[in-house]
Amino acid sequence: MASIIPNFRLRRLPPLSKFRSTLPPLHLHRPCSSIALPVASSSSSPYEDSEEPQSNTNTLSTTTTAIEEPHRKIKSKKPKPFFPKRGETLELVCESLAFKGKGLCKVEESGYVVMCDRALPGERFVGRVTRKKNNYSEVTKVKTLSPHRDMVEAPCEYALQCGGCRTQNLLYEAQVKAKEEQVRDLVVHVGKFSYKDPEFENVMKPIVPCDTQFHYRNKMEFSFGPKRWLPKEQLADKSEDANVFSLGLHAPGFFDKVLNVDKCFLQSEPANKVLAAVQDCWRNPELGLSPYDCHSHTGFLKHLTIRSGRDVETREPQLMVNFVTSSYKPELLKPLVDKLAVFPEVVSIMNNINTAVGNTSVGEQEYTLYGKATITEILRGLAFEISANSFFQTNAHQAEILYKLVEDCAGLKGDGSEIVLDLFCGTGTIGLTLAKKVKHVYGYEVVPEAIADARRNAKLNGVHNATFIQGDLNKISESFGNDFQKPDIVISDPNRPGMHTNLIKYLLKLKAPRIVYVSCNPATCARDLDLLCHGSVEQKLQGCYRLKSIQPVDMFPHTPHIECVCLLELC
Ligand SMILES: C[S@@+](CC[C@H](N)C(=O)[O-])C[C@H]1O[C@@H](n2cnc3c(N)ncnc32)[C@H](O)[C@@H]1O
Repeated sequence: MASIIPNFRLRRLPPLSKFRSTLPPLHLHRPCSSIALPVASSSSSPYEDSEEPQSNTNTLSTTTTAIEEPHRKIKSKKPKPFFPKRGETLELVCESLAFKGKGLCKVEESGYVVMCDRALPGERFVGRVTRKKNNYSEVTKVKTLSPHRDMVEAPCEYALQCGGCRTQNLLYEAQVKAKEEQVRDLVVHVGKFSYKDPEFENVMKPIVPCDTQFHYRNKMEFSFGPKRWLPKEQLADKSEDANVFSLGLHAPGFFDKVLNVDKCFLQSEPANKVLAAVQDCWRNPELGLSPYDCHSHTGFLKHLTIRSGRDVETREPQLMVNFVTSSYKPELLKPLVDKLAVFPEVVSIMNNINTAVGNTSVGEQEYTLYGKATITEILRGLAFEISANSFFQTNAHQAEILYKLVEDCAGLKGDGSEIVLDLFCGTGTIGLTLAKKVKHVYGYEVVPEAIADARRNAKLNGVHNATFIQGDLNKISESFGNDFQKPDIVISDPNRPGMHTNLIKYLLKLKAPRIVYVSCNPATCARDLDLLCHGSVEQKLQGCYRLKSIQPVDMFPHTPHIECVCLLELC
């Protein structure tokens, strides 16, 4: 497998035709046919990160395909109801990428929609129906008949099996175009904004691609497992033994199956050296280390998290290694700690103890096994201390660009007169980068450790006009907002479930002149934009904002994730 990493350095994308001399054209702005794909409603749990759809408003584009024997034939010219059976095989062509990066296909004539994980635009394949939803089915790919458009060789040997990168073998320019299209479709069909509105093209900004498409992640979480997950072919030809301890990434869709990986192209080279050092020795029987078995709930090692940052003075890389274990036995970890402590980049080795049966990596107790309990990173000229469990933007380089967009949208006067409300503030990064230009920043966040980090980060950067408050924004009461002055600008950066209806209600009542909505899930973002702008009769909400711009940003190349920065102005 090739190990050469393509290094596209571009800010604005040139036309796709430049990259595709012999391939068929990619339809960039096709009209959408109507299959309703639902969108998640607001989560009631702050820790829930579900993207599972719930309401029925999203419409996405699809394509037609010939169905030939031995798969079911559809010949009728008239659209007619089509209900595939579970287990049935269909020959399909993937038209575009949709929700969670799944390939979207449409059965000829009937228009019935089928979603397939890892099917890429232009790919012709045979899929087996595995799940039936209200108005579409999910298939798993059985066989590719002809490859997707814009195919490139994936540099990572695990790319086709690992749950992390799903589109590494799709030309990067096609990846970002597909993301841009997805946002556009969601804004129209879930957000109910119209293509026909003369302002629409001004509102929809082109996606900002990521300059660095590999080694961009500053945090990777690997899992330990008692067995290796192997692809079917390797199991069949017995070239690999599955009964060997595994350390790596979860196979797609399996919480209990771990694909062993020796290297990940998304993390930095120093982080890969740490992974290799652990892989090199942890199975040695003399060390007496056992992986946690999530079925029998036995074993010691649960996760290995590697976080990267930079020294504030020297800007040299810093690494934090965090072992998540089922109990506190530092003597068992000592040989690993001794081995890792010799790396100059490793400045912190932590141990989080997680006794719960679930798969979470956050510990109930935390111990420092070597060095400091935090690492540092620099964002927009400010220094941030990051602890093992606090949220920090995973692509620091692209976060610089994201935060610059947020600041541009905030449109601060710069005279120190304005109040900023930073909702879902995490470790305070966005609010702190704006603080020097405003009168006061109020940050709200549910995780107490993140609030502690935010307060420490304020001090570290000499910011005295920021107040960080711990609270659950899904459970705000009538009195929410009584402790701070009315904001001029609201920044809201929720996690994937988006904003709770009560928070939207509050914002509609608050009527701040500007809202900058930063979202990592365009589906829930579109839903919330609809409520803020158009309101909802059923939910008794009267929209009072105008969507001025929506800017997709690619923070995570090769994955289905899309970030958006939206500007809303009070009507
Ligand atoms: C996408 S992160 C954004 C963090 C921060 N704005 C940044 O850029 O680093 C979302 C944050 O929302 C917090 N969060 C999630 N649910 C919450 C809730 N119900 N109430 C308050 N904060 C919540 C998470 O802990 C996380 O820190």
